[in-house]
Amino acid sequence: MIEKIGLLEEQFHVELKCAKSSKDIEALRIRYLGRKGPIQDLMLHLKDLSADEKPLFGKKVNDLKEKIAYLIEEQTTHLLKLEQASRLEEEKIDIALPGECNFLGRKHIITQILDEVIDIFLGMGFTVQYGPDIDTDYYNFEGLNFPLDHPAREMQDTFYLTPQYLLRTHTSNTQLHVMEKYSPPIRIIIPGTSFRNETISARSHVLFHQIEGVYIDKNVTFADLFATINEFLAKLFKREVETRFRPSFFPFTEPSLEVDIRCTSCEGEGCRLCKYSGWLEITGAGMIHPQVLKNGNIDPEEYSGYAWGMGIERLALLRYGINDIRRFTENDMRFLEQFN
Ligand code: DAH
Repeated sequence: MIEKIGLLEEQFHVELKCAKSSKDIEALRIRYLGRKGPIQDLMLHLKDLSADEKPLFGKKVNDLKEKIAYLIEEQTTHLLKLEQASRLEEEKIDIALPGECNFLGRKHIITQILDEVIDIFLGMGFTVQYGPDIDTDYYNFEGLNFPLDHPAREMQDTFYLTPQYLLRTHTSNTQLHVMEKYSPPIRIIIPGTSFRNETISARSHVLFHQIEGVYIDKNVTFADLFATINEFLAKLFKREVETRFRPSFFPFTEPSLEVDIRCTSCEGEGCRLCKYSGWLEITGAGMIHPQVLKNGNIDPEEYSGYAWGMGIERLALLRYGINDIRRFTENDMRFLEQFN
């Protein structure tokens, strides 16, 4: 019997050596010292021994039990220390490492230019209004004097949702909404998205942005329009820019014109950007047609007004020398990241 105690001790030492973590040790403790463990087994044999043998055997088993408990305790403390040290090593913060950079979003280049244009007009006394992207044929065409057979109404240009509803083809759709809502003096800009059913190419897109301007008051003249556009352009380009007001045609203005600026790339010498004309078209504009004023419940005998509609993508193309309007909607970060 006594030898069994020695064997158990030997076996314990072997197993103790194999226990590499505090978890292993805990398992060892439960196995050896638990109620169904080998120590307890030995104790059960006590009753089979003679009265002489009992005290010595009992003492030896108890000694072994205490020894095992002590060794387990000691090894647990040792392993816990090691484990804590390696955890601390793992979690160590190197304060000299460069910080992780979080990606910071930025405004899209078109939004940046829109903001800038809006800011300039706010500074000139205009207020901002927004109109509907989905509108009726009346506000987009009919109320703006577009004859029924006008080419812009054709299916190839306009996204019709129903025979009556369409995606606005220009921000001019909001002119009549504004006139119906307010009475003169009206001095409003209308930024927004316009849609045209066109083949997407470097120069045209199905979706683009415009900023419309409407000014209606007593005695508003062409001279006011010239002055406003010139001042706006000087502020946008941060210098005096030479402009040219060229007669044109829009059904909702009379007279109508288009405003050109001296080519920003060649200063008028002639280059690819200006198609060797020395001029770049910047906006359509004109004096609001008396019939349109009437449609907006404004008396053309008493009031007059001017309006313009400017393409925002075009301003961005000119400012940054971008040659393809598709870049704005491709979401290529390499392109977008250039504009801070
Ligand atoms: N709506 C026109 C277009 O998209 C631009 C325009 C021209 C707007 C003259 C106006 C204007 O307000 O007076 O081509």
